[in-house]
Amino acid sequence: MIEPPRGQWDDGICQPNAKSIKSAGDRLRSGQLVAFPTETVYGLGADATNDHAVRSVFAAKGRPQSNPLIVHVPDAEGAAKLTRFDDRAVSLAAAFWPGPLTLVLERAADCPVATRVSAGLSTIAVRAPNHAVAQAVLKATGRPLAAPSANPSGRLSPTTAEHVAEGLDGGSVMILDGGPCTVGIESTVLAVDEDTPVVLRPGAVSAGALADVLGHPVELSASAVAIGPARSPGTMASHYAPRAKLRLNANAVAGDEGLLAFGAGAPPGAAITRNLSDAADLGEAAERLYRYLREIDQSGVRVIAVAPIPSTGIGAAINDRLDRAAAPRG
Ligand code: TXA
Ligand code: MG
Repeated sequence: MIEPPRGQWDDGICQPNAKSIKSAGDRLRSGQLVAFPTETVYGLGADATNDHAVRSVFAAKGRPQSNPLIVHVPDAEGAAKLTRFDDRAVSLAAAFWPGPLTLVLERAADCPVATRVSAGLSTIAVRAPNHAVAQAVLKATGRPLAAPSANPSGRLSPTTAEHVAEGLDGGSVMILDGGPCTVGIESTVLAVDEDTPVVLRPGAVSAGALADVLGHPVELSASAVAIGPARSPGTMASHYAPRAKLRLNANAVAGDEGLLAFGAGAPPGAAITRNLSDAADLGEAAERLYRYLREIDQSGVRVIAVAPIPSTGIGAAINDRLDRAAAPRG
């Protein structure tokens, strides 16, 4: 691995290696925050058992205290120490962990996670990330890590270390650089705390794939309105937003608009164009979604026209994020 310039060991962007990973673990155990890559997006990690550290994550993001955090664990065994990890959870973890699936489960009686993490709910959201750096940080810390996406609340999630640095405004947070995230969109959040499992947030693990493992269909939370803020506070309508306004399902574009295209035959004439996937590959589109929205946004256009994107597979998650980015800002 590449050695960073002197002076960059502690703060700012660091290359992951034995020394920086150990430093990350020490920092987290002493209550500081560390941003690290996962396969979905970068997370801003804190020791989930330390109320003070958890409080500073909410502060660093400007996140409402009512919106609970995901707790990252190495594996199912780690999750079973924190939650009532029932048979359904065991099967889902066996099929999808480590990976982009978060399970919302009832808290275990002796769970050491700070209650602030789950914003007063009786449940905890747990996930085992599929990324060598995230796993190394978990191991070095030896504690469950509360880690929301490492962006200011309500803005686009970061998929590179540079995005994290831009959003956190430099400063004192160590950022481990794992390169661009390969999934590019936040994990699927599945509530399995009640009889019928409900997808609270679509992601790379599709409803169909979940149903195959469970042996029955799962419910989809149609919208933030349908599910209500108490069930999954993070799924509020306006979220994941760039500064520009979004115009969805656009088949034509004006000269002063940016264009987020998908597939062949993008309309010409936009002020700036990024194509999510020339080959109309939805996985590639998810991987690039936030980076391209950022790039178009940074060009200063006031409107981003977005081409129609099919809602199959991870396309459902892409459209979910685009709908939220386009929602009226509250
Ligand atoms: O892919 C991901 O999940 C990334 C990476 C870093 O792991 N994390 C992430 O965290 O997206 P965040 O905080 O940006 O989103 C967490 C989502 C929110 O919608 C939140 O409301 C929901 O999970 N959530 C967390 N705990 C919950 C709970 N106990 N019940 C219901 N929803 C919960
Ligand atoms: Mg987030």
